[in-house]
Amino acid sequence: MSNTTQHQEILHQLPQILIRVTADLNGVTAINDLEQIKAKYIGKSGEISLLMQYLKIVPAEEKKAFGEAINATKLQVQNALNEKKEYLLQQDLMQKLATEAIDVSLPGRGNSNGALHPISLSLERMLDIFKQLGFNIADGPEIETDYYNFLALNFPENHPARAMQDTFYTQGNNILRTHTSPIQVRFAEKNTPPIKVIAPGRVYRIDMDRTHSPMFHQLEGLWIDENISFANLKAIIIEFLKEFFANPDLKVRFRASFFPFTEPSAEVDIMDKNGNWLEVAGCGMVHPNVLQYMNIDSEKYSGFAFGIGIDRFTMLRYQINDLRLMFENDIDFLNQFKGSN
Ligand code: FA5
Ligand code: MG
Repeated sequence: MSNTTQHQEILHQLPQILIRVTADLNGVTAINDLEQIKAKYIGKSGEISLLMQYLKIVPAEEKKAFGEAINATKLQVQNALNEKKEYLLQQDLMQKLATEAIDVSLPGRGNSNGALHPISLSLERMLDIFKQLGFNIADGPEIETDYYNFLALNFPENHPARAMQDTFYTQGNNILRTHTSPIQVRFAEKNTPPIKVIAPGRVYRIDMDRTHSPMFHQLEGLWIDENISFANLKAIIIEFLKEFFANPDLKVRFRASFFPFTEPSAEVDIMDKNGNWLEVAGCGMVHPNVLQYMNIDSEKYSGFAFGIGIDRFTMLRYQINDLRLMFENDIDFLNQFKGSN
């Protein structure tokens, strides 16, 4: 009789145990702590598991119901544990979402557009101005022969510019052109006057300092026709310079100079903001010997040529004090010129 009472007593305790489980679970805030509760109630020596020991005192006909009642309770505990775990995982996720949230209202970083190189900007500006002055564009190779770079331009055989220390020689006795002037001859050979072209391009010299780069850019100009005079040359150069620097009051000076391929020759200086004269170009009337190499009748035609240092113009325009900055591919440096044309 008392045995029956005891095992029925145990069954009556089960709801009380479940209440304690619920209370314990309510106190849990971390998933790891659930293990302790699991061990405490339904682990091998957990409180509910141990109740199975009483099975031996339960009368045979009630053993099944007793076992089932205990197992049902264990299952309820397991379900409660699962539920709590699920809840804690959810909480964790919410927490993460809250702290790692992406603020969709922030402006994006965007894709920045590239910018043209300052030398390209200068060149574009030069081409625009000369096109307005009626010039066409010519081109020529960067690897040149001695003939076009020197001989046909009336350089004497032993001219110092031909020496190794100034000129890059390539295999096969060709050279990297030292100026854009060879394009004059190449173009004039294939065309007849009137000739009115400009020819921009890379040129190479063994030269390296703040105002000299081993690779730099020139823009050649050539105008050959009947009655072309030095006055035309001056007019074109002055017009170009005032346009390029957007300064109608720009002070320009033509200083007598020497080039083997022009006679007379001049170098062009402009006055900067501090009142200093700066050399920006070479020019002159095409030498009769060069006209002869071009197969142009020097009795009938005359012409002028000029050569502009594009990199130097770019330095002046943007007040860059070291030419080499332009060839270092420094993005911060280059970004300064965005949209400045
Ligand atoms: C010449 O190269 C002549 N061919 C120019 C010419 C053409 C004269 C047609 C007459 C008729 P010069 O060596 O002075 O000339 O160079 C012309 C310009 O190139 C210079 O005024 C300067 O602005 C630029 N320059 C010369 N060397 C360098 C260098 N290492 N780095 C950057 N710019 C340079
Ligand atoms: Mg010079």
